Amino acid sequence: MTPQAPLPALLSTVPVIPVLRIDDPQRGVGAGALLAGGLSVLEVTLRTPRALEVVRAIRGAHPEAVVAAGTILDKTDVRRAVEAGAQLLFSPVAEEALSAAASSMDCPLVPGVCTPTEMASAWARGHRLLKFFPAAASGGPDVLTAVRGPLPQLRFCPTGGISLASMASYLALDNVRCVGGSWLVRAADLEAQDWAGIEAKAAAAIEAAVAAGWRPTADEAVT
Ligand code: 3PG
Repeated sequence: MTPQAPLPALLSTVPVIPVLRIDDPQRGVGAGALLAGGLSVLEVTLRTPRALEVVRAIRGAHPEAVVAAGTILDKTDVRRAVEAGAQLLFSPVAEEALSAAASSMDCPLVPGVCTPTEMASAWARGHRLLKFFPAAASGGPDVLTAVRGPLPQLRFCPTGGISLASMASYLALDNVRCVGGSWLVRAADLEAQDWAGIEAKAAAAIEAAVAAGWRPTADEAVT
């Protein structure tokens, strides 16, 4: 097993990780409104030409945040993301080469898994938080309830097709630590530079999570 870098402790304090598709570094800085709303771990997907610049800009402007890079697909993505300042990596897949590359850069990686075999393999490679992806399309909370019996050690961050309305059904499960979603920052929010609206969505997500029974935790399985 390749030892994996420990996950950032801040991850235990947030129920939702906003998934940002942003190409303008200035708007990335504005999306720091999420921090004012209480969400201090952000994922910037590497799906826009200037995504790495966005990672760098958010790191510079908001040193109190944990900035993750998402859509990590190969070793080059790992290297470029870490060099841009990413402190955490998310991937839609669970390739062994990604685990090795992240480990060699000393950066924690949350690999994407969907089946029990993928989940167990990622765990065996040392990953202590798994991205259940694509969550809604793969069966949603029922899948995580079903694997809890045979694979009780696993902890998940479901992502893909999750909304403010469906978030609670995931967070109510004891093997779910947080969810990821792009609903908090839509293209229209960025276009309108609606930072107050983004902050309000972050605060609403935390309120809904607490209502669903989610609490900040120092769970050793996550940190
Ligand atoms: C992604 O990588 O696109 C994330 O899974 C976000 O999915 P969502 O847009 O369905 O929230």
